Amino acid sequence: MSRYLITAALPYANGPVHIGHLAGCYIPADIYSRYLRLKGEDVKFICGSDEHGVPITIKARQLGITPQQVVDKYHQMMKSSFEKFGISFDHYSRTSSPVHHQTAAAFFKTLYDKGVFIEETTEQFYDEEAKQFLADRYITGTCPRCNNPNAYGDQCENCGASLSPTDLINPKSKLSGNTPVLRPTKNWFLPMGEIQKSNDFQEYIKRFDHWKPNIKGQCNSWLSEGLQPRAMTRDLDWGVKVPLPNTEGKVLYVWFDAPIGYISATKELLPDNWKDYWHKQNNEEDNPKLIHFIGKDNIVFHAIIFPMMLMQHGGFVLPYNVPANEFLNLEGDKISTSRNWAVWLHEYLEDFPGREDELRYVLTSIAPETKDSEFTWKDFQARVNNELGAILGNFVNRVVVLSNKYFKCNMKTDKKISVATFDNELNKLLLSYTKAMKNFQFRDAQAIAMDFARIGNKYLTECEPWKKYKAEDI
Ligand code: 2FM
Ligand code: ZN
Repeated sequence: MSRYLITAALPYANGPVHIGHLAGCYIPADIYSRYLRLKGEDVKFICGSDEHGVPITIKARQLGITPQQVVDKYHQMMKSSFEKFGISFDHYSRTSSPVHHQTAAAFFKTLYDKGVFIEETTEQFYDEEAKQFLADRYITGTCPRCNNPNAYGDQCENCGASLSPTDLINPKSKLSGNTPVLRPTKNWFLPMGEIQKSNDFQEYIKRFDHWKPNIKGQCNSWLSEGLQPRAMTRDLDWGVKVPLPNTEGKVLYVWFDAPIGYISATKELLPDNWKDYWHKQNNEEDNPKLIHFIGKDNIVFHAIIFPMMLMQHGGFVLPYNVPANEFLNLEGDKISTSRNWAVWLHEYLEDFPGREDELRYVLTSIAPETKDSEFTWKDFQARVNNELGAILGNFVNRVVVLSNKYFKCNMKTDKKISVATFDNELNKLLLSYTKAMKNFQFRDAQAIAMDFARIGNKYLTECEPWKKYKAEDI
């Protein structure tokens, strides 16, 4: 038996969950966790709301409410939608929890005490009208790599580049629309270029060879460009306070604290033995396997930055795999929270009560495992009727009706009704199913599972047990 810590990306508590989130991250993570549990592995499946960072404060400004009100509203909404939909988290936490604040602050302090950070005063963008430094998504501009005019200060969603605000061409403040000015401020940087050269990191990246090609490709492209130091603190008033003297108005970078949320959530779930799921064990083969399910915009943070943090802290295992998915589009257009172009989970649950599995089935069939994919309602209807209903539904219905009729649902009988054997086909299917699951190919695994139902239907048609056995024979 192996021990697994499975995580699904902590969603920002600034809006409801939509089908893109489900197909990209939460359904695959749930499938894998359920599969491992069925195999008898020791699994903990962790998630929670990401309640810090600029996306939250921007939403609060838009709605004219406080960041706390924003996260309270969306945390409850997401937690309840996930529950109703049947995502089997062992714990769904939130990064505003006291355990998380303590854990993230202590993690930062450990790195600080070990002298990991570069402490540096640099020029950062400041909005003179809003009287505020402009971190991450408070600033937009043109991406220096792909020329996307709407890149954020921390990342370009078009090409996936991980950016600093000062990399942007023609930067603009999201608060006032003005061109910001540069002002000096002190921050603590993770020397990613130095860590990249270390033996431990070079040893770690050998794992990429076993990862999905899309992730390996992205990571190797960043690494070949050479990593730059990245600030792990921000001049903001919303987040985990920097645990150092004279740091009023400074918080931890949301991408520093959020992945630590996986650790704090495990601590909340298992206060006495959380380390069994995170720490290196005496024998390497006993190490827990840490697996992060995420969307492609989160790859750099989970495959490079968080492992560097864990490595510098010491004692922790590093990610065993990071099965990231691409994006799901909706009816020919990108899903967008700000343009309200999405199928929202809470609305689906209200409109189609009891039909969670139909959505789960369709989103698994079209999951963007290797490239972006497309959801349309027409396709949803066809897959539910022609596959789920006509193949699996039909098979289950026939089995239940026949066993009720001929065996009165009492399956404890010596009577054999087998006249044809499909053992070979079934064994082959089982092998390909297991291989697909191991490689995180859940679309294929589901298609193979449907083949079991197809064979079942064929078996019934060929055997015609209703002709051979009458109820009174049993
Ligand atoms: O992209 C997002 O929605 C982030 N909130 C994911 C965070 S994952 C983890 F690191 F917490
Ligand atoms: Zn770009």
